[in-house]
Amino acid sequence: MIDFHTHVLPGIDDGSSDLTMSAGMIREECSQGTRVIVATPHFYADRMSIDRFLARRDEAFQQVEAWRREESALADTAADGMEMPQILTGAEVYYFQGMGRANALPDLCVSGTDTILLEMPFSQWDKGVLRDVEDILHRQKLTIVLAHIERYIEFQKDKSVWEEIFDLPVIPQINAGSFRKRSGLFRRDHRRKFCLHFLEEHPRLILGSDAHNLTSRPPNLKAGREEIASALGEDALHRIDETTREVLGL
Ligand SMILES: [Fe+2]
Repeated sequence: MIDFHTHVLPGIDDGSSDLTMSAGMIREECSQGTRVIVATPHFYADRMSIDRFLARRDEAFQQVEAWRREESALADTAADGMEMPQILTGAEVYYFQGMGRANALPDLCVSGTDTILLEMPFSQWDKGVLRDVEDILHRQKLTIVLAHIERYIEFQKDKSVWEEIFDLPVIPQINAGSFRKRSGLFRRDHRRKFCLHFLEEHPRLILGSDAHNLTSRPPNLKAGREEIASALGEDALHRIDETTREVLGL
């Protein structure tokens, strides 16, 4: 099980606030059966340079890795010790105009891959957005995973660019929590239905928890997978796992 989208690194964005919280989140992932966690802190080009972001991310990553090594050493000596998940570094890169030609984008890819997790605008997508996505794919030859695609649909009154983008070889990512049943009075299961339908139409899809903490946005990959398996069958999970391993080269 691979969690492709998480905010487990401490003190770098609105995700984990410190090492204690990161440790709790990683332990929770571990107990759910996650073997690989991709750490994808938010990157906003208008707030921080890429160099500064990478330095901060590396610092946070080293803290977590030091903890993970200690934890793994303890697990080796304990009868019921669980092996800590492997952590890969990436970023959730928020869209900016002209990013298709930004030559530092490969530095934001998941470590050891040419795969970038792209967070799209929370507004009507236009031809400029489409052009940038095309440039990232065709000029920069990167693989694009589009973060939590279910969160943009309500802004696409005109779906023509949405449709053109999903005709491209982009890989959609959906948050595990979006597959869960909701019991609110309004919009009941609206998002879940959209996600299940989208998964049926787009078998090459990736799942992430987008976990930010242990309370309001906790690791929940297992629960999301169970919803998918009961609605669409285990095959849907196998396809997700295959696609995820493929983009990570695992
Ligand atoms: Fe996120």
